[in-house]
Amino acid sequence: MSLTGKVAVITGGGSGIGRATCLQIANDGAAVAVWDWNEPGAKETVDMITKAGGRAIAVKVDVSSAEQVAAAAQRTRKDLGPITILVNNAAINYLISFLDITEAQWDEMMKVNLKGPYICVRTVIQDMLDAKWGRIVNITSSSTQLGASRMAHYVASKGGLSGFTKALASEFARSGITVNNVPPNFIETPLLRKTTTPESHKAAAEKSMMGHPGQPEDIAAAVSYLCSVAAKHINGHTLGVNGGNYMC
Ligand SMILES: NC(=O)c1ccc[n+]([C@@H]2O[C@H](COP(=O)([O-])OP(=O)(O)OC[C@H]3O[C@@H](n4cnc5c(N)ncnc54)[C@H](O)[C@@H]3O)[C@@H](O)[C@H]2O)c1
Repeated sequence: MSLTGKVAVITGGGSGIGRATCLQIANDGAAVAVWDWNEPGAKETVDMITKAGGRAIAVKVDVSSAEQVAAAAQRTRKDLGPITILVNNAAINYLISFLDITEAQWDEMMKVNLKGPYICVRTVIQDMLDAKWGRIVNITSSSTQLGASRMAHYVASKGGLSGFTKALASEFARSGITVNNVPPNFIETPLLRKTTTPESHKAAAEKSMMGHPGQPEDIAAAVSYLCSVAAKHINGHTLGVNGGNYMC
């Protein structure tokens, strides 16, 4: 799917699913801004893209800070051009019993995982409105469909992002902008390792439909498709990439 001539922002592009998405979207022809608060990770992704012949910049940014996101968007426009693709992928997660979650921890989860995408969309959507074309893909989580214990704050934030996707998809449907979400499930990344033990990882693989976790590239391919010109009639959709672990 050609994305030639487009400028894409992928948040959390310095690791895991975000990195694979940056590589895929760059390979499909877009110039890519790798937004991440982990600057070395973002720079590594950019090196991988440029070595493969693509065009990319690394931007250090905390997606939950309106000031930092405004500066990141300004730099992206200056270096690459107006932003017409946004992938809200950056997120945090860790396991904790519901009874132990503090209000500060709850707020932090919402700030990064839900307010972050709101700030990013608010900051770049005028570029899409001006272009009369845009693609927004939110990376949610199958835990919003399946539930997950010891992740109440995370699952609530991702459920909010899922609802946000549908609201935006309705509001901008006549502006040439589509808004969709991809909820990963059991994808081999640093974040997955953080939320599993070797034992629980093995058990999850055995329980899974295909007998193994998915790879970041599996999510990246779906995201890139949703960002393509060809996907113009897919809007407000949840594209599950989960090996059949969750069927709807
Ligand atoms: N791996 C899975 O099985 C799985 C399952 C469900 C959902 N997800 C979702 O997929 C997405 C990617 O997850 P991953 O597994 O690749 O995780 P990861 O930890 O490997 O990557 C997340 C990236 O986001 C960045 N980030 C976090 N907070 C940020 C902030 N405030 N500002 C800027 N950058 C920030 C991190 O630095 C990191 O580079 C997340 O939205 C996650 O919730 C993953």
